[in-house]
Amino acid sequence: MKPSASMAVSGKAKKLRAEGRDIIDLGVGEPDFATPRHIIDTAYGAAVDGQTKYTPTAGSVAMRNAVVTKMARDHGIEFDPSEVIISNGAKQSLFDALMATVDPGDEVLLCAPYFGSYKDITELVGGIARIIPCAAADQFRLTPDLLEAAITEKTRWLLLNHPSNPAGATYTREQLQALGRVLAEHPQVMVLADEIYERIVFDGRPFVSFGTACPELRNRTLLVNGVSKAYAMTGWRVGYAAGPEALVKAMEAVQSQATSGPSAISQAGAVEALTGTQEPVEDFRVAFERRRDLIVEAVSSIDCLTLGPPGGAFYSYIGCEDLIGRSTPSGIVLIDDSAVATYLLEVGGVAVVPGAAYGLSPYFRISTASSDEVLEQAMVRIKRAVLDL
Ligand SMILES: Cc1ncc(COP(=O)(O)O)c(C=O)c1O
Repeated sequence: MKPSASMAVSGKAKKLRAEGRDIIDLGVGEPDFATPRHIIDTAYGAAVDGQTKYTPTAGSVAMRNAVVTKMARDHGIEFDPSEVIISNGAKQSLFDALMATVDPGDEVLLCAPYFGSYKDITELVGGIARIIPCAAADQFRLTPDLLEAAITEKTRWLLLNHPSNPAGATYTREQLQALGRVLAEHPQVMVLADEIYERIVFDGRPFVSFGTACPELRNRTLLVNGVSKAYAMTGWRVGYAAGPEALVKAMEAVQSQATSGPSAISQAGAVEALTGTQEPVEDFRVAFERRRDLIVEAVSSIDCLTLGPPGGAFYSYIGCEDLIGRSTPSGIVLIDDSAVATYLLEVGGVAVVPGAAYGLSPYFRISTASSDEVLEQAMVRIKRAVLDL
């Protein structure tokens, strides 16, 4: 197992900082905002109130009901609480699902660029990650033709993340339905729709859940989500999944032997996040869109870098093909995007994650979850470093 690439980059950035270097860290994938106060107050109240015991492995009744309410309210999908599991972050839901279902040799389809943990979790549970490179010209979306060509008898899962980390790829209802028509022909394939960035969508586009777009695939669709990104609650560690009861039961069995249910106090806060006022979520979204615009504008002023406007999430996946093969002032040839990321960190003073970590090169990912001022400063540094090549 390799540690997560963005964590590794942040570790390197911290080390350079400890040595006295001025480093801007655009590696990490977490909102820079504080968790909204009403959520903290609710969790505090729950702790004082004695909600400090184990909850059921699949999550507290209140939290499962909150997910049921959320799914009906936001996506028009009716779930029974028995079809819902609460985990220690969405990452654990992903792990539970793959651990519960993937046999050695089973194939899992990943749309590159993909969230790095998809590949590592797949391999950890003995599966084979089948990477589908998705073109920048298609806004890094999976197309029906690519999907059809990738499916085999051994395909067990399609992992579909939208809006996506790292590219911000989003899908319309029609695009999801076109994928659904391909999947309808292949009953051996289940769909894991990771919708954790659903609340961070730009340009006035509505978010359409895979579950809403393709109700006919409901008996083989798992919707994965969580409170980390939408509510600035990364450290609370609450994610959830909703899907067929038998699958959810199998996931619960895995979770029961790994961690049991998530923290009772965090779940109490997450109930308030899902069912309380949604106002702060829109404020966060507006800030992320403004920062997206700032980065798109800054990249357009740098020759050799490319970026189509991300449709959602809080990352920019910047193309750096024209930098490959160039020499740094100290004579090092940039042979790939890992070398570009190392150069930007060590010489430019900006920590970014190389595209190699997401299965599609040559790119680097920056997180736009920093203040406008910090992002502006980072882009000035990146521009200067690129001009020095
Ligand atoms: C696409 C995607 N899915 C899942 C996760 C995991 O989120 P959580 O904090 O809920 O475990 C992340 C976090 O970076 C992510 O980017």
